[in-house]
Amino acid sequence: MSALNELYAGICACRKCEIFRTRTRAVPGEGPENAEIMFIGEAPGWHEDQQGRPFVGSAGQFLDALLKSIGLSRQQVYITNVIKTRPPDNRDPLPQEIANCRPWLDRQLEIIKPKMIVTLGRFSLGQFMPGSAISKIHGTAVKKDGVLYFPMYHPAAALHQGSLRGVIQSDMLKIPGLLAGLRKETEVAPVGQKEETQQLKLL
Ligand code: URA
Repeated sequence: MSALNELYAGICACRKCEIFRTRTRAVPGEGPENAEIMFIGEAPGWHEDQQGRPFVGSAGQFLDALLKSIGLSRQQVYITNVIKTRPPDNRDPLPQEIANCRPWLDRQLEIIKPKMIVTLGRFSLGQFMPGSAISKIHGTAVKKDGVLYFPMYHPAAALHQGSLRGVIQSDMLKIPGLLAGLRKETEVAPVGQKEETQQLKLL
């Protein structure tokens, strides 16, 4: 079994939080194991709980359109959530649920090793930059421990607050340039260049 499939089996069997009783399916996440970029949302909603897949409801449709706007498809990126089980009535995740689920997210990060993490919404931002206000930091990339973090508003925010739609769209448009910069950093210099420039530059 691949490391990711082993992880998914663990998540689907997890009963650490009481909300396992009300879920239809756990929603571990999806995408290629070698994805360069990982999108991390908040928690599964009704549609995600039904299908066992992240971002398949209306927020997911907007996320798909945002990805398309930068020439990416869902198959090229990894998508998951801070917590892997739907909170009843779509309430906010509880601090204890987030803490219980954190080791699953950590293992996902360990396996995929994304170059770039896009946090979607304040709960996801809180996992990586506690204390930062999304209204201030959205659309600003921050490099930490070799990973580029890029905070964005949650796509669902645009569905409730139309004025955020354009903000989310323009933040998304910054991603290709940031990714291109990261790829350049890991490029191996062409054969024939001086030895000191041939070293693989790690992030
Ligand atoms: N909102 C999220 O945060 N995650 C999903 O998977 C769907 C909606």
